[in-house]
Amino acid sequence: MKNSLITVLILIMTLSMAACGAQANAKQEQTEPALTPKPLESPIVESVKNEEETEKMAIEEAPTDVGRFDLEKGVVLLNSGYEMPLLGIGCFMLSNEQAENSVYWALRDGYRLIDTARIYGNEVGVGRGIQRAINEGFVTREEIFVTTKMWTSDFDNGDAAIDASLDRLGLDYIDLMILHHSQPRNDVQAYQAMERAVEAGKLHSIGLSNYYEPEDFDRLVTATSIVPALLQNETHPYHQSTEMKEHIAQYGTVLESWFPLGGRGNTQILFNDDTIASIAAAHGKTSAQVILRWHLQAGNIAIPGSSNEAHIAENFDIFDFTLSDGEMDELTAIDRDERFADY
Ligand SMILES: NC(=O)c1ccc[n+]([C@@H]2O[C@H](COP(=O)([O-])OP(=O)(O)OC[C@H]3O[C@@H](n4cnc5c(N)ncnc54)[C@H](OP(=O)(O)O)[C@@H]3O)[C@@H](O)[C@H]2O)c1
Repeated sequence: MKNSLITVLILIMTLSMAACGAQANAKQEQTEPALTPKPLESPIVESVKNEEETEKMAIEEAPTDVGRFDLEKGVVLLNSGYEMPLLGIGCFMLSNEQAENSVYWALRDGYRLIDTARIYGNEVGVGRGIQRAINEGFVTREEIFVTTKMWTSDFDNGDAAIDASLDRLGLDYIDLMILHHSQPRNDVQAYQAMERAVEAGKLHSIGLSNYYEPEDFDRLVTATSIVPALLQNETHPYHQSTEMKEHIAQYGTVLESWFPLGGRGNTQILFNDDTIASIAAAHGKTSAQVILRWHLQAGNIAIPGSSNEAHIAENFDIFDFTLSDGEMDELTAIDRDERFADY
């Protein structure tokens, strides 16, 4: 009798605890942030920014992998819902012919990210390099991630500029298009053209380049609907962009480094830096490889530019070593907050 009374009591307690748990879960579900990760195939842009405050809160609380660098797979999940490779080939200063070859070699060597721009005048060459690699069976269109940029003089005619880039690249869609520079007079209008192109399926993700002040970035974000997936700024060990990277992280926006090696004419300054050179020697790697590995471990997507087949292969050979915390600290300490470019 006593035993069955105890059993009944335990049963009642268990049932009431289960009921409380269910209530708590129901409450949790109600307060679950609006922004939840969707499968990669399905972009989440439509849920990205309805109202600014809800949006910011949602991104801060969202239990997603947005912005987390996966160095094993070499990708990051953007706030647009698309995966982006962490290391790519840059095409600044390359002729159409050079761009075609660099893109082709890069795709053959395992790169899946390509960066070009309308103003580089080589979108046609980039498109040819992509087509060659596809034709030879190295990649499919779906496996690669193509970025181009809208130049400032096109900002008043953004819709036409997007169509023209698609045409020159010979693609049905562009994975990421970014505004090349901040231009308060009409960059909101240009960004809205990119938003329309996302709706139309012409662009998958959209972002910004050369916004160096948090207030300037916020100005654009506040006036538009889709939160930028990415910010591409000059970033290297002497200009580590720490403040901007922290600022944009609250939006789930990731940083991409241009001039990752310092840029043409400046690379030797970084390659010969004592800290970089000694870490490179310790790993049996080149200074370029250590700098690129630093970018990835620091949370910067990197797009080293090159027209040299051997350099392109070398720059991708950075997934077989890791910089220690101490080495990362040493590299953080050489930041001078100094840019090489003046634009
Ligand atoms: N958003 C913007 O405003 C903006 C501005 C500038 C650049 N970008 C983008 O960012 C990309 C990267 O910038 P970047 O190309 O100007 O500069 P970078 O990648 O920092 O440096 C390119 C220079 O590094 C050399 N290099 C590359 N790999 C090397 C290696 N392993 N060993 C020795 N030298 C090596 C290249 O020469 P070789 O050709 O001989 O390899 C070239 O002279 C550009 O290509 C472009 O796509 C964007």
